[in-house]
Amino acid sequence: MTINHQEIELIDSFEQISVDIHPDAKEGSKAVAREIAALIREKQAAKEPAVLGLATGSTPKYLYAELVRLHKEEGLSFKNVVTFNLDEYYPIEPDALQSYNRFMKEHLFNHIDIPAENCNVPDGTVPKEIKAYAEAYERKIEAAGGIDIQILGIGNNGHIGFNEPGSNVNSHTRLVTLDNSTRLANAYEFSNMSQVPRLAITTGIGTIMKAKKVILLAWGQHKAKIVRRSVEGSSTDQARLPAPAAP
Ligand code: PGA
Repeated sequence: MTINHQEIELIDSFEQISVDIHPDAKEGSKAVAREIAALIREKQAAKEPAVLGLATGSTPKYLYAELVRLHKEEGLSFKNVVTFNLDEYYPIEPDALQSYNRFMKEHLFNHIDIPAENCNVPDGTVPKEIKAYAEAYERKIEAAGGIDIQILGIGNNGHIGFNEPGSNVNSHTRLVTLDNSTRLANAYEFSNMSQVPRLAITTGIGTIMKAKKVILLAWGQHKAKIVRRSVEGSSTDQARLPAPAAP
């Protein structure tokens, strides 16, 4: 059977999200760090900024450790890098133990030469009417030239950022209510469940989808089920889970 070019393109357009499998989280993280380093160097040569979308949680910790190693041992400079984080609890002080602003400093920003003014993490102390703040965050991403590579984790319930299942595919930065399953999963960061904030600021699925490339990381057997649902799930399921919307 022969297939003409037009048909091949049609078949390609129905392909599932491409999946790379690595022996372990460290190897996988190194591969992603190499891709980020290549982008940064390419942009340096072109005298342009490299714009990264960053995530928090246990998933990207090895990735950040590897980027720090590349800086310290292989001279990778982050001076031309601009970052935008996905989310932050609300309300929360930036120096609180569980704050994602603090997480990013401890795991990445304090150990590399990125200019402080290039690091953007949603502010968990803005007044509750966050519409203007959220719009400004979106505009800042656009003004930086848009995100070149967006790093994502995925929650056991399929959330990306703090976009819980049911989030609109066109959603933008906003205040959201956390699922109880998410609060439970993150309770280990707090002294008890009642301390876990009920709200968060998150960039939206629409924001994430504008990135030129999205890399969703998921490590370990406990994430296998949700990765399978995200990659192979039925269209009904996909309409409910945020993750499959990511390319
Ligand atoms: P984790 O969380 O990296 O701590 O597993 C992922 C997420 O909730 O997005």
